[in-house]
Amino acid sequence: MSKNFDVVVIGGGPGGYIAAIRAAQLGFNTACIDEWKNEKGGPAPGGTCTNVGCIPSKALLQSSEHYEHASHGFAEHGIEVKGLGLNLEKMLGRKNTVVKQNNDGILYLFKKNKVTFFHGRGSFVKGDANGYEIKVAGAAEETITAKHVIVATGSNARALPGAEFDEKLILSNTGALAISEVPKKLGVIGAGVIGLEMGSVWRRLGAEVTVLEALPTFLGAVDEQIAKEAQKLLTKQGLAVNLGVKIGTIKAGKNSVSVEYTDAKGEAHTGEFDKLIISIGRTPNTIGLNAEGVGLKLDERGFIAVDGDCKTNLPNVWAVGDVVRGPMLAHKAEEEGVAVAERIAGQHGHVNFNTIPWVIYTSPEIAWVGKTEQQLKAEGVQYKAGTFPFLANGRARALGDTSGMVKFLADAKTDEILGVHIVGPMASELISEAVVAMEFRASAEDIARICHAHPSLSEATKEAALAVDKRALNF
Ligand code: FAD
Ligand code: NAI
Repeated sequence: MSKNFDVVVIGGGPGGYIAAIRAAQLGFNTACIDEWKNEKGGPAPGGTCTNVGCIPSKALLQSSEHYEHASHGFAEHGIEVKGLGLNLEKMLGRKNTVVKQNNDGILYLFKKNKVTFFHGRGSFVKGDANGYEIKVAGAAEETITAKHVIVATGSNARALPGAEFDEKLILSNTGALAISEVPKKLGVIGAGVIGLEMGSVWRRLGAEVTVLEALPTFLGAVDEQIAKEAQKLLTKQGLAVNLGVKIGTIKAGKNSVSVEYTDAKGEAHTGEFDKLIISIGRTPNTIGLNAEGVGLKLDERGFIAVDGDCKTNLPNVWAVGDVVRGPMLAHKAEEEGVAVAERIAGQHGHVNFNTIPWVIYTSPEIAWVGKTEQQLKAEGVQYKAGTFPFLANGRARALGDTSGMVKFLADAKTDEILGVHIVGPMASELISEAVVAMEFRASAEDIARICHAHPSLSEATKEAALAVDKRALNF
């Protein structure tokens, strides 16, 4: 087996494994090192996203949504379900199978693209512009060399001081995806993306969910109108979101956790929960990399410091994904991975940070790209807005899911699309049209004049674009 590589990628999450595949496609002798282990101790590439993030959470979101539909969604369609039961073990087993399919898929892709895979932890030994020595420790024990190194070591859940994760009662995303019995009372600290997604899963399966959020506003980064609508819809479903709370002492007992907190009015409460999920953000992971040993610079928040092209302070060392600045999203990590491999090959890798979509996979889904209305106001940009409710969309009525709306924000003078915000059915798919349009710097009028299939949810996108010019046809 070769020990001298053109490109070595440390970390096999979406940033790392995609960078390795692209580097191999470009003709580089490439290796990828990843330390994630499956339950048998074998390799499980795919990182947080595949093992304890995007993929398992979406598997459980789908299963729990089916369960909720069968519990009380089918009735309006005239479908009567009797003797409905929940086999949680099977549901979790299916989620694990989906994860394994993705792990195996990545190992297959490595083989297909001739990427050498090392299962273990990679750390810098020494190096300079001529190359780096990297030690692999784990199932594979090697010292390998690389002309270029791409660091893609991802992130870890942030713990609350005094309430370390035990994954039995106090859960990070890892434990939140593997609760073996539906808790009667589930506490969630942090009403961010994980809090809302995992809170939705367990509420649908029968838990009474209380979400405790420090900020006084719900989803502060989301367009205000969309966030308000989402809050209304999620609250109606029974997700109790408490804003402006201050968390005090958290005590884990034998079978339950108590959380002392004050609410927005300053009143003191103690919540007793069977399980507590803490989802208050993630921190960059550089554990065991020996960054300091080779002088790899981190910023003040612990991220690997990079420039706009993902170059670090060390020659020929690059870093991508959650371990560097920018949104912690799998598709952002992938785009950076591809761009870096192409830059190593002397090409012009491209990542447009203005058109990275966000999706929160609640029901209804929340998706957006570009600027929010409050951002445009703060920046003093003159804009026009157009909204269209799913209530007026024929396909949404046929689906029986008419919640939410599509909202367009366009430049007042040029009509260029500045942001698109959706809360509603299949928002995760609908947002792609807006991303493409913004990438090509389209105007709202461009979307308004494009023929959209009828009946489809995407007609709501066209109508919202028409509404920018006050000429929606169906509302
Ligand atoms: P990671 O996926 O964290 O991968 C890093 C890999 O490097 C890991 O396998 C780690 O074991 C390995 N590693 C670390 N150090 C070393 C070392 N020294 N040697 C060898 N290997 C090492 N994003 C979305 O876009 N959509 C979603 O729906 C979504 N859902 C999410 C749900 C949850 C519950 C969570 C927690 C996250 C979710 N994310 C989602 C975020 C997404 O998972 C991350 O943005 C993404 O995984 C980042 O990719 P990465 O390659 O930078 O890092
Ligand atoms: P987050 O940043 O989305 O939300 C954290 C929330 O916790 C914020 O609302 C914050 O105000 C709150 N908070 C922070 N400290 C607190 C405290 N002491 N008490 C109460 N509330 C507090 O982080 P989250 O949900 O942990 O997810 C991490 C990241 O993972 C996301 O930002 C996102 O990048 C990624 N992710 C993406 C998903 C997607 O794309 N669908 C799904 C899940 C995660």
